[in-house]
Amino acid sequence: MKVTAILLAAGQGTRMKSDLPKVMHPVLGKPMIWHALEAVKQAASETPVVVVGHGAEKVTDYLGASARTAVQEEQLGTAHALMQAAPLLRGTGGLVLVSYADMPLLRGETLARLVDLQKRNTGPMSMLTVIADDPRGFGRIVRGADGTVKAIVEEAVATEEQRQIKELNVGAYCFNADWLWDALSRIEKNPHKGEYYLTDTVEVAVGSGLAVRAEVMEDAKEAIGVNTRVHLAEVETEMRRRVNAGHMLNGVTFIDPASTYVELGVKIGRDTVLWPNTYLHGKTEIGEGNAIGPNTMIRDSKIGNRCKVLMSVMEGAWLEDDVDMGPFARLRKGAHLGNHVHMGNFGEVKDSYLHDGVKMGHFSYIGNADIGSETNIGAGTITCNYDGEKKHPTKIGEGVFIGSDTMLVAPLNIGDGARTGAGAVVTKDVPEDTLVVGMPARAIKKLGKKK
Ligand code: UD1
Ligand code: MG
Repeated sequence: MKVTAILLAAGQGTRMKSDLPKVMHPVLGKPMIWHALEAVKQAASETPVVVVGHGAEKVTDYLGASARTAVQEEQLGTAHALMQAAPLLRGTGGLVLVSYADMPLLRGETLARLVDLQKRNTGPMSMLTVIADDPRGFGRIVRGADGTVKAIVEEAVATEEQRQIKELNVGAYCFNADWLWDALSRIEKNPHKGEYYLTDTVEVAVGSGLAVRAEVMEDAKEAIGVNTRVHLAEVETEMRRRVNAGHMLNGVTFIDPASTYVELGVKIGRDTVLWPNTYLHGKTEIGEGNAIGPNTMIRDSKIGNRCKVLMSVMEGAWLEDDVDMGPFARLRKGAHLGNHVHMGNFGEVKDSYLHDGVKMGHFSYIGNADIGSETNIGAGTITCNYDGEKKHPTKIGEGVFIGSDTMLVAPLNIGDGARTGAGAVVTKDVPEDTLVVGMPARAIKKLGKKK
């Protein structure tokens, strides 16, 4: 059966006090609307429809081809919001799944159970409820003796007795499409708030003697809707807990999950240990048996197996296996460290490949360079890769010894087995197995081949 999801996302989110539309605020690195779309994907068969209003342009731009949009020009209530999707969906039949875009913890499986419930329902609609001590201003559920829902009472109009009801309306519904569009047109403006309430569909169904079914959610946290930044932090914490628990169950050790931040989509292999204050962002893939952190930030990077990354920052970088990095190392875009590379404190590497076994122990800058295997980069070495206009490459061969405080003025080629003296300013290519010293550096000696 055709199932189409509609996400309501037109509200202003006034209490967020933000220039960013509410549903664009990120939770664990992805906008709330992304989470909502991922969830409905698991329960619906058609491209979803998002009802946008405040910040419509930003939200629509973000959605791209992932959803269709309907614009609600004026926010006249949840039923009115849904009506805006009617021109897109009326007459297509099947089921319509409705949920809010500001509930990022709502799971796809939970929505799928809601859809299943409606498939079995003889009546026109089903809904999700939650049992909670803190009502959070949610509508109260009134059930009949047969267990079906008889009414949803909004807090503002609830009697003292009704306010004690612990079963609450989450705001996720599944409707028979043909019935829904007709029912919506019968809803009248609520006299209290002057809005069209989606919850009044219950009244329409019950008034015609039709069954409204409800499924109680097992995990009440899924119903947390974000209206303020306090809620946003609550949701962030819960999502982080969920994602971290998933990695732990896959064999990753978290020394302190509460201070370890792993964005959605990050991959981590078994027996990797994450120390406190580690942040893994974006498209990051980490292999097995690594030790990462503490105090480390990694974004869009790839790490092989058995590496150590201590108090360091990596962005757009790649470590092969058995790399030992930090403390206080920085890898920027295009940094590639081969097997067994050692990179010590206060080094920076950008757009460079350090082949297997390169050692760079102390405060150096390497940019636009290719450094052959087993080469040693002395303390304070700088590739002077920028002449004020252009970046130039430096190529260093295998088994080279770069003396402390060497300035490598690019473009430059240094042959295999060469050496530079401490403080050399190298402005010209160095042939293999040659020692250069001074400023500007000159060759003083041909070296005997090692091996
Ligand atoms: C609604 C329910 C309430 C439920 C609660 C759960 C109604 C009348 N009440 O109340 O029973 O317990 O959700 O959170 O539905 N929106 C639009 N356009 C509008 C109005 C709202 O798109 O004109 C969107 C908002 O962006 C928001 C969602 O619908 O994401 C909910 O609207 P809101 O006004 O917050 O409803 P509640 O008062 O929370
Ligand atoms: Mg709300």
